[in-house]
Amino acid sequence: MPLRQTLLCLWALIGTIGFALAQDAPSASFNLIARGRYLAMAADCAACHTAPHGGQPFAGGYAIESPLGAIFSTNITPSKANGIGDYSEQDFARAVREGIAKDGTHLYPAMPFTAYAKISDEDTEALYAYFMHEVKAVDTAPQKTALPFPFNIRASMAAWNVLFLDKGEFKPDASKSSEWNRGAYLAEALGHCGTCHTPRNDLMAEIGTKSLAGGSVGSWYAPNITSDKIAGIGGWSDDELVQYLSTGHVAGKAQAAGPMAEAVENSLQYLLGDDLKALVVYLKDTKPIASDEASPRYTLGTPSPAEAGLRGLPGQSIQENGFHVFSGACAACHQVGGEGTKHYPSLFHSTTTGGDNPDNLIATILFGLTRTVKGMPAFGPNAAFTDRLSDKDIADVSNYVLQHFGNASVTVTPADVVRVRDGGEKPILAAVAPFIVPVIVVVVIILLLVLALFVARRRRGTVTA
Ligand code: HEC
Ligand code: HEC
Ligand code: HEC
Repeated sequence: MPLRQTLLCLWALIGTIGFALAQDAPSASFNLIARGRYLAMAADCAACHTAPHGGQPFAGGYAIESPLGAIFSTNITPSKANGIGDYSEQDFARAVREGIAKDGTHLYPAMPFTAYAKISDEDTEALYAYFMHEVKAVDTAPQKTALPFPFNIRASMAAWNVLFLDKGEFKPDASKSSEWNRGAYLAEALGHCGTCHTPRNDLMAEIGTKSLAGGSVGSWYAPNITSDKIAGIGGWSDDELVQYLSTGHVAGKAQAAGPMAEAVENSLQYLLGDDLKALVVYLKDTKPIASDEASPRYTLGTPSPAEAGLRGLPGQSIQENGFHVFSGACAACHQVGGEGTKHYPSLFHSTTTGGDNPDNLIATILFGLTRTVKGMPAFGPNAAFTDRLSDKDIADVSNYVLQHFGNASVTVTPADVVRVRDGGEKPILAAVAPFIVPVIVVVVIILLLVLALFVARRRRGTVTA
């Protein structure tokens, strides 16, 4: 073989091997990236890091309303200018699992790092690969968070972390099945169910002994989902739970609205069948935590013939105003007897009307439910297709619905409607915030006075001595 041809053959051979190697390398990281994509979806990163109404994926700017003010999510695309393009895998792991950004500043727990602390090393690596290699870099800077003093001092989060951040990845429980452990990992680490479903203390940390026993999320209420047969989901069948988590609808039981609708829409509906089943196995086996409720929320109520009897009466008493609003604004879809249709849910046998907390009923009427194509219109300040109802109208129609279809022992006042409209109960921390500066000023003045007195005494002392 002449030298030229030998060289050409050699060249072709090297090329082929090189090509084969090149094909091999991305296929390994292709799997890693695909796993990272699934994990990011299961952890619902997009829900908070994408601005509503067509924001660029992961470019931040979503406002998380906290009782202390709005906290804006950051740009987590691989943009070097405004995103996390400069983050090493260690930097990324520290931000996601310990709540500390690359520049050392502490993140607010609106970023659920207390749950993500449990994400495994391998999964953190896959998430990092996905964000660096597949997410499109977006060079815009989202609005900056500016909480009032003293909450703008991020270093105070270091103390909070010492108290409330449980470091260390998820430890499987050897006495349980691998399916149970997978479910626990999905619920506690990735799905961060406790972020919403576990009540919080005055310092806004989850109360560990009341895990999943129900908590407020702004205007909405994330109910008890422990395995308790009455207060929790112990009475749901496995199939019902799978259906709820993957579609948000279980006829004659519950519909997901508000933040739960977002979790279903952005995350849970995409979980693989086995993962959904594992999640349910874990939910059915959590520590049961009871409440004062005497029967499961979804068993209360019956169709009500009241509408037919009240029709045509003048709307003077509160009871009748509720009826008039119901008749005009609700009955077209939910039917006069409240039984609903194939497309509209029934108002009895519904966890929203049968529980002892009316917030989701009020919030559904105020904000509507836009999860599906066929949603429920809002009747509150953002009403677009319907007449806007007053706070009193909303209280009256809530009471009508509770009286006739749900938990008649619960009543709603216009003040409850205002509370839900304005984002829910403020914790003590937020309530005392306006007084912190005046209190500091007063304390400083008192200290100065004491000091002045002390100095004056000393002076007098030295004179007389
Ligand atoms: C419940 C809302 C929420 C979810 C879910 C969420 N984040 Fe965040 N994240 C935030 C907020 C809010 C901030 C900014 C916090 C602050 O400013 O203190 C943040 C900050 C970050 C930062 C720091 C970025 C920087 O600019 O330095 C990283 C990295 C991050 N998130 C990654 C993720 C990843 C990865 C996921 C999914 C595994 C995720 N986040 C899920 C709300 C969320
Ligand atoms: C962002 C907050 C949030 C997160 C995260 C969240 N939920 Fe929810 N969840 C809610 C709210 C609010 C409701 C009430 C919705 C309604 O009734 O319209 C709810 C309702 C439910 C219900 C129905 C309970 C009933 O009695 O009607 C189940 C079951 C449930 N969630 C399971 C889960 C699981 C499992 C996870 C974690 C994988 C999870 N949720 C994560 C906020 C959340
Ligand atoms: C245009 C039709 C329509 C009207 C009018 C309407 N709804 Fe609804 N409503 C719906 C639909 C659709 C859903 C369920 C959406 C879903 O699950 O995707 C719903 C859900 C509900 C739920 C369950 C929410 C949950 O979280 O479980 C309640 C309670 C409710 N509506 C009460 C009312 C009341 C009270 C009125 C009158 C003020 C009203 N609706 C008016 C269509 C309507």
